[in-house]
Amino acid sequence: MQTRKDCWNFEYSAHSICICTNFAYIIPLKSAHFLPHTTSEIHTLSKLPKIPSKICAVKEMISKMGCQLKVALLFWSLIAAIITTQRAASASIRIDFYDQTCPRAEKIIFTEMQKILQRPEFKNAPAQLLRLFFHDCFIGGCDASVLLNTGNLQDEKQAGPNLSLKGFEIINMIKEALERECPVIVSCSDILVIATRDAMILSGGPFYPVYTGRRDSKVSFLQKASLEIPSPMDHIDKILMLFAQRGFTARETVALLGGHSIGFISCAFIQPRINNDTNPDPYIGDDFKEEIRQRCEKRNSNFSMMDPQQLSSASSSSPFTSHFGTHYYESLTRRRGLLFSDMELMANEQTAAVVEEYVSDDGSTFQRDFITALVKMSNLVTLTGSQGEVRLNCSVPLNT
Ligand code: HEM
Repeated sequence: MQTRKDCWNFEYSAHSICICTNFAYIIPLKSAHFLPHTTSEIHTLSKLPKIPSKICAVKEMISKMGCQLKVALLFWSLIAAIITTQRAASASIRIDFYDQTCPRAEKIIFTEMQKILQRPEFKNAPAQLLRLFFHDCFIGGCDASVLLNTGNLQDEKQAGPNLSLKGFEIINMIKEALERECPVIVSCSDILVIATRDAMILSGGPFYPVYTGRRDSKVSFLQKASLEIPSPMDHIDKILMLFAQRGFTARETVALLGGHSIGFISCAFIQPRINNDTNPDPYIGDDFKEEIRQRCEKRNSNFSMMDPQQLSSASSSSPFTSHFGTHYYESLTRRRGLLFSDMELMANEQTAAVVEEYVSDDGSTFQRDFITALVKMSNLVTLTGSQGEVRLNCSVPLNT
């Protein structure tokens, strides 16, 4: 098949998917056969009863959003509709797992997320959930092990890299709403993955399809989290190794780090970079040093926003909209990455080339790679079927 400039090509669920401006191809990887679809056929397909209810629900709920997003969603609906009729690549997770047992599950998650995002104290929920999702799926797969809070010092959330995680209460609130309708049916791991996706959609981020059917871990992995979640002081070789151990390529690693285009970062992680006179940070010039100083001091608090464009307009009390885009990569090319580990993407020829590629177009290459990598991360699943459990309360294992 020819690759066209206006098309996105990627592999998903044992299919090669190509989404273009006016048409889409879905090609089963193991078959030479492929199905071309024109835009009108996509419309026809979207009326098929096989379309998963959650896709319809999400479509309905975002109908007030911009045309571009609706077109993108239409394409994704097509993909999800077709994938639904096939078996998922993974043995036990699939689109619409709760179809029979809790048909409104995904609608409830979306509606709760909408309500939560309207509350000023949860304006940063998309970033908090994205980071929580990453820290959960990276260690032992997406199994909600990071949510456990048994009061035991062995909890995974006690690991150094997890101490500053936020957003736990959001998952608990959604779980409570689900428990009222379908007790002990929807796993906390599925809630975290779907809520992250929905929080991103609702704040203008990209839509991507999510499989369900994950089960919750009965244990958490303190030591593994302490050792294997990358540190902000890690060099590129270590970062690439940790991601490669989970099956991510260098390109996917660069795309995933684009998560740093939203949210906040504590000055505690940035200030050591400017205050280390014995071992000065090689990436920081005098002007940036001064900028960091001002950003951390001016706000009279201990955080700084990831997106520099937000800095001038936002205060801690004003509404804040996450802004997905390539500004994170642009900062790297100007040697203004906030973390040392971010700047390390420029220290490797391969990763630096991907950064340059992401800043060279309208952001669509990054967006495509980012959602493909997020789907891949959400499919790092170890517990399905009768393994693990479905918790009643996301912080507590069942039999305690
Ligand atoms: C080398 C890998 C990574 C390192 C060293 C790293 C480190 C960090 C650190 C130190 C913070 C600041 C936490 C705080 O101030 O409380 C942070 C924030 C964040 N990280 Fe990462 N991270 C990495 C990869 C990722 C990935 C892959 C994602 C998502 C796909 C991600 C998403 C986020 C988000 C959204 C925030 C902002 C959280 C908030 O506003 O509360 N990070 N990261």
